[in-house]
Amino acid sequence: MSWIDLCAIDDIPLRGARRIKTAQGCVALFRTGDTEVFAAADRCPHKGGPLSEGIVHGQSVTCPLHNMVFDLTTGQARGEAMQIQTHALRIEDGRVLIDGAKLRARSAA
Ligand code: FES
Repeated sequence: MSWIDLCAIDDIPLRGARRIKTAQGCVALFRTGDTEVFAAADRCPHKGGPLSEGIVHGQSVTCPLHNMVFDLTTGQARGEAMQIQTHALRIEDGRVLIDGAKLRARSAA
């Protein structure tokens, strides 16, 4: 794996989200706890809503456009046959790192 440093964990509001632009496209980071962060596609598969502007609750995010709820651990929509792509990440010395190889593979698809 090649890890890309995206930001400091404190750059993401607690129980909030932040959109990060990378060379491979935009990624939404969701901070669900003091040291718990999830990375996923920022685009809702329903009609393209910006998930980074949604409401973060528990380990889920609610899309700001039509209230579809996505589980951030799996990417699966609650009660719907839709899914967002999630990305592996790790926290190291207060920094959020994402798996760059998988991000590149996604942008090439
Ligand atoms: S665009 Fe996200 S629920 Fe419709």
